Amino acid sequence: MEVIKSTLIFSSLLLTVFAQKPVVSVEPRSVTVKQDEAVSIRCRVTSGSQPVQLEWKRPNNQPLADNVKVGPDGSVLTVASARPGNQGQYRCIATNAHGKGTAMATLTVKQPPNVRVTPASQVKVKVGGVTSLQCHVSGKPRPSITWFKQEVGRELVLVSTTTGTSLTAKVTVTAPQDGGTFVCRAQNKDGTSEEKVELKVEGGASVAIEPKASIQQTDMTAVEGQTVTLHCQATGFPTPVITWSKLRAPLPWQHKSVGGTLTLNNVGRQDSGQYICNATNSAGFSEAYVQMEVDTPPYATTIPDRVTARRGDSMRVQCIAHGSHPISFHWTRVGGAAMSLGAKITKEGMLTITQLKVSDSGEYKCVATNYIGSSETVTTVMVRE
Ligand SMILES: *[C@@H]1O[C@H](CO)[C@@H](O)[C@H](O)[C@H]1NC(C)=O
Repeated sequence: MEVIKSTLIFSSLLLTVFAQKPVVSVEPRSVTVKQDEAVSIRCRVTSGSQPVQLEWKRPNNQPLADNVKVGPDGSVLTVASARPGNQGQYRCIATNAHGKGTAMATLTVKQPPNVRVTPASQVKVKVGGVTSLQCHVSGKPRPSITWFKQEVGRELVLVSTTTGTSLTAKVTVTAPQDGGTFVCRAQNKDGTSEEKVELKVEGGASVAIEPKASIQQTDMTAVEGQTVTLHCQATGFPTPVITWSKLRAPLPWQHKSVGGTLTLNNVGRQDSGQYICNATNSAGFSEAYVQMEVDTPPYATTIPDRVTARRGDSMRVQCIAHGSHPISFHWTRVGGAAMSLGAKITKEGMLTITQLKVSDSGEYKCVATNYIGSSETVTTVMVRE
């Protein structure tokens, strides 16, 4: 009895293994690819009696797109160079003599932003003209948009935004070299797209444009001994030639002028003054000015530098300093002796002593100080009986 029962169970087990419709699973069940990438989905028969036939279907029996291929045994579905139309569900259907089993995979194709520029591909602008290049962008998440000009070895960014769905680049054409390839690029985490527009400049070569010179900093201060560089920029066509000069004076002896940049080495007080940038081309010239001041540390002297007096007399010594203002003065006695009670010192550096005593004899030091440095000078006082 026991034996019969177990045999029964065994044969029904055999029956369920061998006379069974197929069970399948897909791997991966959900997959996301970037546009133009490839992806494969595998269908595996986990149970069911052989032979099992595999096929893949799209919802509503849509045919598989031409870039979707199924391997010889039907188990692997490959999407080459994914595109938005490939997105959706893929059903693996397994069939054997006992029935069907299915499993479903979902494919998502991430899309880079979509870019459209107007005017499209090419625009002609006359010298002196202005044109607006527009870029319209769609995409999720919202892409950043940038207009740039393609130059040799670099991209010159004109405008960019991270908000909004369109961006306009205004291009002013003053010379043939203002033409070129302008590119709108949209970028989000799913990809990058760009569109180009070729800007052709018409009738440029014959039209000269007056120069316009400019200096960013019109006032500057340097400290004695420093190296100073002055930059001048100029627009115009043909490209203006820039020359530098100094108002009512020759340029400093140690100067160098390259392009629009004037370099002055080891400047001194005498180099202060107005510098003129002159941009010249066949259409005319344009001047720009910069006022440069050179600050110097004080240089102190005393007048007189020696005083001889009698007891009871008065004396006056003036400390004088050249250099950048404000300058402060400080009088002390050399050797640390105290100043006479009759001594008076003014802000301007004047030392006065009335009712001189013999003990007021000695050396007096004046220190003149400004923000750059200080200088000292000594005067000798001799008081006789
Ligand atoms: C600038 O150049 C023009 C043309 O060469 C000239 O006439 C003018 O005097 C120059 N200006 C200065 C400040 O040198």
